Amino acid sequence: MMRHIIAPGGELKGEMRAGSDKSITHRAFLLSALAEGESEILSPLISADTMATLNLVRACGAKVAEEEGRITVCGGELHSPPEGKADCGNAGTLMRVFCGVAAGWNLQCVLTGDESLSTRPMRRVVWPLLEMGANMEISDSGTPPIVVREQKTLSGMHHKIKMASAQVKSALLLAGLRAQGETTVTEPVASRDHTERMLELFGVTVLREGLRAGVCGGAKLRGGVTVRVPADMSSAAFFMAGAAMTPGSDLLLCDVGTNPGRFGAVDILRQMGADVDILNVRDCGGEPAADIRIFGSELRGVEIGADAVPAAIDDLPALLVAAAAAEGETVLSGAGELRHKESDRLAAVAAGLSALGVECELREDGMVVRGRGGEKEGAVFSGGDVDARGDHRIAMAFSIAGLRAGGEITVRNCENVETSYPGFADAAKEAGLRIVCGEGDIIPPREGE
Ligand code: S3P
Repeated sequence: MMRHIIAPGGELKGEMRAGSDKSITHRAFLLSALAEGESEILSPLISADTMATLNLVRACGAKVAEEEGRITVCGGELHSPPEGKADCGNAGTLMRVFCGVAAGWNLQCVLTGDESLSTRPMRRVVWPLLEMGANMEISDSGTPPIVVREQKTLSGMHHKIKMASAQVKSALLLAGLRAQGETTVTEPVASRDHTERMLELFGVTVLREGLRAGVCGGAKLRGGVTVRVPADMSSAAFFMAGAAMTPGSDLLLCDVGTNPGRFGAVDILRQMGADVDILNVRDCGGEPAADIRIFGSELRGVEIGADAVPAAIDDLPALLVAAAAAEGETVLSGAGELRHKESDRLAAVAAGLSALGVECELREDGMVVRGRGGEKEGAVFSGGDVDARGDHRIAMAFSIAGLRAGGEITVRNCENVETSYPGFADAAKEAGLRIVCGEGDIIPPREGE
């Protein structure tokens, strides 16, 4: 069982690039497999989740060549994977988005996942696809496996989804490319629009009107495209939160994707009083990217409401850890979706904060964190033992707590950090976190190491 052991103290300094973007990498592999011709993906994220996507498109007939920092995918004619096996591992994005691909391209398969993915809700994507004419089956509990069977051509539809979800939106738009007529998706709040931007890069006209996005059936993806993947805002977020809550920190995070649907962590940290500079804003193949400089500051508690949740959804565990170092209460609401991620993230964060001596109140759709910033300088967290519950973001969020801890923190069940950020512990150590990781007997870092 993989553990992180973090000695107390340190500050985050220097310049680094967080791991490449997971959301964009998944889409780059999928869309280049759907496009005629060869496309190249530069600096893709190589992680367990994205490799599950690459393996699946390969199994469906895309030709893949891998080099250091560059993957080429030659797509076009896709067929059902051998014996219909489509293992999505821990990757919710792959499973949900691939449902749209399988329905649109008439690929017969059984989508399965690991223990965590097998408990995650899938009706949100299966039901609207059934309305379009897909032939899919899901268990009564609404969880995987998902069986996709042969079907006739889909019918385009105007979907109004109740909860913002880039995964659902992406699945419906991709299915819509092969449906008769127009397919549109309207969300209550804007989610990340990586799919819309990347479809445009692949030559597809995307209707975009406020909270509505749409495509016309029959539109073809044109390959021969280069997708350069920026660093992942949600991997950078652990370092942003860690630097912001630690006096003396001064960290430059280079080449971070700053898609408006992912910018919530910066907005929330700024509301908390963090000193954040966005530098060198540029276009990265249709996606905005920038360097982010962040300094340690005195933070204050804030209210994070439902409208702010989608753009910070994956970053909320790290922000809630930083909230413990703020003066006053941070109140998160409208975030019930966090209970359906790789773990119940509200429960996992509340348990982790409590284990480290921080008072919090768990609510159905959020929590209150009673910040300790005003109490004293120095330690915010006691040392202690945190269970990451096999959830990569919980593991990384509680590792950064070591920066403001009074004793050693052990985070257990960290193996799934590999799903989104292999190399996290080394990068964190390089930036100034006193972290070691390993299985079995590992030697904790010494004071000041
Ligand atoms: C993702 C969208 C988000 C996010 C997930 C990745 C994506 O989920 O939490 O980690 O790549 O589209 P929802 O769109 O379901 O909210």
